[in-house]
Amino acid sequence: MPPGFAATSRERKLGQPIGWLSDFARRLAARAREYLRKLAATRHSIGARLLIGILLFSTFVTFVLAGIQLYTDYQRDVAAIQSRLDLIGKSYLDSLAESLWALDETQLRLQLMGILQQADIRAAKVRDTGISIKPLVVQVGETPEPPVVTRDYPLTHTVQGQDRVIGTLRVEATLADAYCRLTDTAARVFATQATEIFLVALFIIFFFNYLVTRHLSAIAAKVGSYRIYDSPLELRLKRRRPRHDDEMQRVTTAFNSLSHNLHSAFRDLAEREARIRCLVDANIIGVFTWQLVGRTPEDQDVAFRDVNDAFLRIVGYDREDLVNGPVTQRTLTAPEWQDRAQRAAAEMRLTGAFQPYEEEYIRKDGSRVPVLIGAAQFGETGEQGVAFVLDLTERKRGEQALQQAQAELAHAARIATMGQLTASIAHEVKQPIAAAVTNAEAALRWLARRPPDLEEVRKALTHVVQNGNRASDVIGRIRDLVSKTPSPKERFEINGAIREVIEITRGEAVKNGVSVRMELGAGLQLIEGDRVQLQQVILNLMMNALEAMAGMAEGQRELQVTTTAEPEGVRVAVRDSGPGLTPVAEERLFEAFHTTKSSGLGIGLSICRSIIEAHGGRLWAEANEPQGAVFQFTLPVEQHSAS
Ligand SMILES: Nc1ncnc2c1ncn2[C@@H]1O[C@H](COP(=O)(O)OP(=O)(O)OP(=O)(O)O)[C@@H](O)[C@H]1O
Ligand SMILES: [Mg+2]
Repeated sequence: MPPGFAATSRERKLGQPIGWLSDFARRLAARAREYLRKLAATRHSIGARLLIGILLFSTFVTFVLAGIQLYTDYQRDVAAIQSRLDLIGKSYLDSLAESLWALDETQLRLQLMGILQQADIRAAKVRDTGISIKPLVVQVGETPEPPVVTRDYPLTHTVQGQDRVIGTLRVEATLADAYCRLTDTAARVFATQATEIFLVALFIIFFFNYLVTRHLSAIAAKVGSYRIYDSPLELRLKRRRPRHDDEMQRVTTAFNSLSHNLHSAFRDLAEREARIRCLVDANIIGVFTWQLVGRTPEDQDVAFRDVNDAFLRIVGYDREDLVNGPVTQRTLTAPEWQDRAQRAAAEMRLTGAFQPYEEEYIRKDGSRVPVLIGAAQFGETGEQGVAFVLDLTERKRGEQALQQAQAELAHAARIATMGQLTASIAHEVKQPIAAAVTNAEAALRWLARRPPDLEEVRKALTHVVQNGNRASDVIGRIRDLVSKTPSPKERFEINGAIREVIEITRGEAVKNGVSVRMELGAGLQLIEGDRVQLQQVILNLMMNALEAMAGMAEGQRELQVTTTAEPEGVRVAVRDSGPGLTPVAEERLFEAFHTTKSSGLGIGLSICRSIIEAHGGRLWAEANEPQGAVFQFTLPVEQHSAS
C-alpha cells in the first residue's frame, strides 16, 4: 500500500488472514529450527547413541531372522513344486503314452490342459520321438520367464512285450509366484519388525531419559557451574527417592560429599595460605619462594619465584632483578659462604629442609649483610620451596657492642684485681731488685779488691742480670694483664700460663699464710685462645680461693692448682681448703653482682664463665674433699672461637 493511503475495511479484512498466516508460518519455521537445533545437539547424547545402537542391532537381528524365514519358505515352495511334478509323473504318464501311441492330438491336448491346472505349472509339452520327419508336438501354455523348474518325463509304450520310449513330456513350472510370496512375506516381516523395533526403542529412550539422562544432564549442568569457593553443592534429583539407593542416587551422594570435601579442603587451604600470606605480607622477615635450576648438584642454583618487600630491602635489589631475573641465590651469597650454602642444599635434598644458618649476602651496592637463612622444599620432588631470611645487622652490632662491653668489664675487673695485688706484686718486684742491688754492691766490692777478683765479679753480675730479668718478667706479665688491647688468638701451653699467674699471686698467698701447690700434668696438648683472658680466669679463681681462706680462723690453708688431660681437651682445677660453698651461694655463684664480700663486685665468676664458654669450654663449682671448694673448667683442644 502506498504511503499516505489508509486501507479500506475490505482490504483490511483480506489482509488480516494473510498476515496471520505468514505470522504462523514464521513461528512454525522458528519452532522447527529450534527443534532441529535441539535434535542436532542431542546427536552426541547417550540417548541418541543408544537409539542408534538398538536400531542397528535390531535391524541386524531382523535381517538374520527374516532371512532364515524366507529361506525356509523358499525351500517349502520349491519342495511343493517338486512334489507336484512327482505327482504328474505318477498320474499322467501312462495315459499320455496311450494317447501319443494313438496319435490322438485332441486327447493329448486335453490331458496336458489337466496338467496345466496344477498350481505354478505354466507349460506342458509332449513330443513324439518317432522316426517320422515331422514328429508330433503338442504344447499347452507359454514357456514362463525364468526362474523356472523344468522336468522331462519319458513316455513309454509296450510293443511286443518290450517297453519303448515313444516320446517325452516336458513340464515347466514357474518360481515367480513363490518369489512373489517371499517378497510379500519379507515386506510384512520388515514392516512389523521395524515398527516394533522403533516403538520399543522409543520406549527405551524415553524410559532411559526418564531414569538416567535427564538426571545426568542436570548433574552436569550443576557441577559445571559449581565454583570451588561457593558453598558446597547440594545436588537433588527431580524424582521420588527410591526406597533403596540406586546408581543415580549413589552418584548424587558421592558428588555431594566430594564437593563438601573439596570445599572444606579449599577453605583450609585458603585459610592456611592467608596465614602464610599474612607472614609474607607483614614484611617482618624476608620471605621468598624458589625454584631449583641446573641439572647436577654442582651447578644447581636457586632462582627466585616470588619475593616480599622485606627481602628486597635486605638485599637492595629490585623485584625485576630477582624474580625471573639474572640474580640467583648463588649471586647473592658471599664467596666464602658458598660451601656452607652447598652443604645446606645437600641437607635439604636429604631431609626436605635445612636448619637455619648464618651467612652473608652481597647487596646490590656491593656491601655485605649478615643474614640468617632457613628453607624447606614443597612436596617430594624438591624442585620448589620456600625460604625465610632474617637481617642480622642489628643483632651483630648488638653482639659486637656486648662483646666490647664484656671485654671492657673484664679489663676493669683485671685492673681491680691487680689493684688488690699491688702490695704483693710490689713485694715480688722489690725482691729481685733488692737482690740485684745486693749483687751489684758485691760486684763493686770484688772490683775494689787489689787485685780485683774478676771471677767473683762475673758471678755477682750474672746474678744481677738474672734478678733484673726476673723483675722485668714480673713487670711484663703485669703489663700484659693490665693492657687493654685484646691479645690475638694464639696456641699456647696452659701450664706455662698457670705458672705465671701463680708467680703473680705468690706474694698474696704468702701474706695470707696459704701454701700453693701445683700438680700440672705433663704432655698436655696446646690450647688455642686468648692467653690473657684465660690467665684472668685462673687469677680470679685463685684470688677467690685466697679470699675465702683468708677469713678462716684456723686450719691448714692450702690452694692446689691441677691440670689434667681430658679425652677432648684439658681440665684445670683450683681447690682450696676454705669454708666451701653454701647451697644458696652454689646456685647463684655465677650470677653477675652476686657477692658475699663487702669490697667485692660479684662479677669475677660471671666473667670467668663467659670467657670459658667463648673458648668452647665449661666452668663449674663443687665441694672439695675433705673441705673447701673446687672450681674446674675444661677447654677443648680444637677451638671454635675466642672472643
Ligand atoms: N673458693 C670459694 N669458696 C667459697 N666461696 C666462694 C669461692 N669463690 C667464690 N665464692 C663465692 O662466690 C661469690 C662470687 O664470686 P665472684 O668472684 O663472682 O665475686 P666476688 O669475688 O665476690 O667479687 P669480685 O667481683 O671482686 O670477684 C663470692 O662472693 C663468694 O661468696
Ligand atoms: Mg672474685
